[in-house]
Amino acid sequence: MMAEVSNDRSQHGMWSSRMLFVLAAVGSAVGLGNIWKFPYMAGDHGGAAFFFVYLICICLIGFPVMLAEIMIGREGRMSPINSLRQLARRNNLSQGWGLIGWFGVFTGFLILSFYAVVAGWILFYVFRMFSGEFNGVDIETAGGMFGDFIGDWKQVALWFTIFMVITGVVVAKGVNKGLEVVVRYGMPVLFLLLLVMLIYGITQGGFGDAFSFMFILDFNNLGLSWDSLVRAMGHAFFTLSIGMGAIMAYGAYMPREGSIKSAVWVIVVVDTLVAIVAGLAIFSIAYAHGSEPHGGPALLFITSASAFGNLPLGAIFGGLLFVLVSIAALTSAISILEPATAYLVERFKLSRWIVVTVCCLIAWIIGWGTVLSFNAWQNLIIIPGFGDGTFFAVLEFLVDSFLLPIGGLLIAIFVGFILPRSKVKTAIEISTEWGMKIWLALIRVIAPLSILVIFAITLLRLFGLTELGA
Ligand code: PHE
Repeated sequence: MMAEVSNDRSQHGMWSSRMLFVLAAVGSAVGLGNIWKFPYMAGDHGGAAFFFVYLICICLIGFPVMLAEIMIGREGRMSPINSLRQLARRNNLSQGWGLIGWFGVFTGFLILSFYAVVAGWILFYVFRMFSGEFNGVDIETAGGMFGDFIGDWKQVALWFTIFMVITGVVVAKGVNKGLEVVVRYGMPVLFLLLLVMLIYGITQGGFGDAFSFMFILDFNNLGLSWDSLVRAMGHAFFTLSIGMGAIMAYGAYMPREGSIKSAVWVIVVVDTLVAIVAGLAIFSIAYAHGSEPHGGPALLFITSASAFGNLPLGAIFGGLLFVLVSIAALTSAISILEPATAYLVERFKLSRWIVVTVCCLIAWIIGWGTVLSFNAWQNLIIIPGFGDGTFFAVLEFLVDSFLLPIGGLLIAIFVGFILPRSKVKTAIEISTEWGMKIWLALIRVIAPLSILVIFAITLLRLFGLTELGA
């Protein structure tokens, strides 16, 4: 299955080094999921208990699936759809396996559609924070300000469109002149700002509370429901960018030298560390201001915004936090757009600019559903039981709890059971016998089984067939 050496390049370009591949993959993984979503999910789903379930999912499901995805990409050297087909063809398997790639492209459009809307909110808040608008503002007022903003679809649509255009331009410029440039300069700035936020959080005095909230398990009150379990697994997929082909697409541009396994370690560890640091910083700031770290999706925009507004130099540090999140969102959004772009370029031999315009337009149109979820369609319940039932809540739940895990499950089955074992062994490059055994156990049994069990729980609960606890 090893690709022929002469042909061991992708037509879209290659990352200039192994290091840049890792940085790009970390850029994809670290995003709104870590800084916006993780803190509020942990806040709402039991803090430490949620965190531990999430860690288990990362190790047992996230790690093996990511390894499999990068392997497929690196062997196929094309868009996820064509890489999967390529591997199927080389091994005399059905071309139907390419459908996993199609499924991922579909999921990608849905993710990009709401991702860009939330990223648009973030962009707006960069300016809002720096302007000092939050100075001395209490939580209620900050809540009102956020409500007014997302209630105004014109404003939201404007910022959402700006973010979409920026993402499109970067992806259209290609792997080396677009994606790689953003990653090369964006990621170091992101890490630096994260450090600044952590230090700022620590100096404000709420760090101790934040730390115990995140790490100290209260066994008498775990605060963990079945719903939390499902959300923790879904979040593991979302935060690692697995299950829809983003990391597979990036794997196609990974140079042959260097092991996939060590790259995956770095990606998983850094992604988790960023979530921890972001959580600690955001919770510290909330506690320093005397608020609890709850508040759902609005945590960052209301609790943090008003906390910053009441802390020394808050406008500057608050603004920097939103700059940090904007960079993180951009380096992720480009990876969501890449699989579809690469496929359409391969299929129709068109320029990236044309393909990206079409893709962004599709995601932009779907994105209106999210834009309107907070104003005109606020009371429109699309599917009851999916969060608050709005278009946005349904989409988010669907992606996290169904689409990404199903994608991951299919990838695990393809690599674990369908591809010939000996070829997988060569391509995955796990040198030790026991390492290989562990990986096989994870990809063939543990990951698929855990996904299936969690699915079963979700379905039972969704159809109200069981009362499995809170
Ligand atoms: N991992 C990204 C984040 O945490 C989101 C993402 C999901 C990116 C799926 C690519 C694919 O924000």
